Amino acid sequence: EKRIGILTSGGDCAGLNAVIRAVVHRATLTYGWQVVGIKQGTMGLLSRPVDYEVLDLDMVGSAMMRQGGTILGTTNKGNPFAFPMTDGTLKDRSAEIAGGYRELGLDALIGIGGDGSFAILRKLAQQCGINLVGVPKTIDNDIGLTEVSVGFDTAVAVATEALDRLQPTAASHARVMVLEVMGRDAGHIALAAGIAGGADVILIPEIPFDIDRIANKIRQVRNQGRNFGLVVVSEAVKTADGKELQREYLGGEKRFGGIGNYIGEQIANATGAETRVTVLGHVQRGSMPSPRDRLIAAAFGVHAVDLIAEGKFDRMVAWSNREVIDVSIEDAIARYQAVELDGALVKTARGLGICLGD
Ligand code: F6P
Repeated sequence: EKRIGILTSGGDCAGLNAVIRAVVHRATLTYGWQVVGIKQGTMGLLSRPVDYEVLDLDMVGSAMMRQGGTILGTTNKGNPFAFPMTDGTLKDRSAEIAGGYRELGLDALIGIGGDGSFAILRKLAQQCGINLVGVPKTIDNDIGLTEVSVGFDTAVAVATEALDRLQPTAASHARVMVLEVMGRDAGHIALAAGIAGGADVILIPEIPFDIDRIANKIRQVRNQGRNFGLVVVSEAVKTADGKELQREYLGGEKRFGGIGNYIGEQIANATGAETRVTVLGHVQRGSMPSPRDRLIAAAFGVHAVDLIAEGKFDRMVAWSNREVIDVSIEDAIARYQAVELDGALVKTARGLGICLGD
């Protein structure tokens, strides 16, 4: 009989609880193991006493797979290799994490995270002898070697719904509506939601944009007799002359919230259109998971436990060609997945006449 730990690390997203539930079901019902939920990512293993909760079937009822966020809590602060201490210094506290893992008597650890979390968890695993299995999650969908990560589908649904709601008001007032979405350095959310939501312009970090092209598209739409427009902007877009807008105009302070305003102003100046801007922000992370995210989460959770049963560690579960597979965590981290410029969705967007800013 084994005792396995599970933690969520980095930014939350929809579907994390569905992964936790699937892990508890598989581990308990199929293998008769005990699952220990570690609180606040690796912070729970740093705390003394160790901050954890035994997760049994009663605790993970079916309501849990519908619930957004993570019942375990998470953090994207406090890298244990350079932990910020109150006196301002950085301390390597990795040995304390290993101590927490041993204190709990864990045989393996399932880390639900993105590439940043995986890099830290993997280093910990290697240095401290932790048997690690990774489950990819992020609304940004930028983790390599998996077609999807948990949380992406729901974020796209939220952003698409925002466009559905913006369209009637745009049409009523003859305005160009700019929707700023998240995605960090990748444009997956913008591209998918923009196509699904009927955007005229989609700006993504992978394709530097030229404001004249955007203005032309807005004019073209008007010439065709439509008086409104929908523009989707990913948070980290760049201009064709190489300016990283966040750094250039927003002081690089924030990863989101501001680019949309800049683009809205530029479009108004270039076309005379009346523009309004919506910054979608964290609502993209907070809602009930979509059915697809629940399915992916369930499949990932089950496979993660099976990997432990097989003694296969340092692996990340992944989705590929309608199947759950597993890949090396190291390879997944090395293969950051931006939007592919010759990929299906870029082709589709161009095929629909959507302006991608170039
Ligand atoms: O990586 C997920 C994400 O939501 C990004 O899309 C966004 O840039 C960032 O996290 C926001 O971070 P925070 O929650 O720290 O504000």
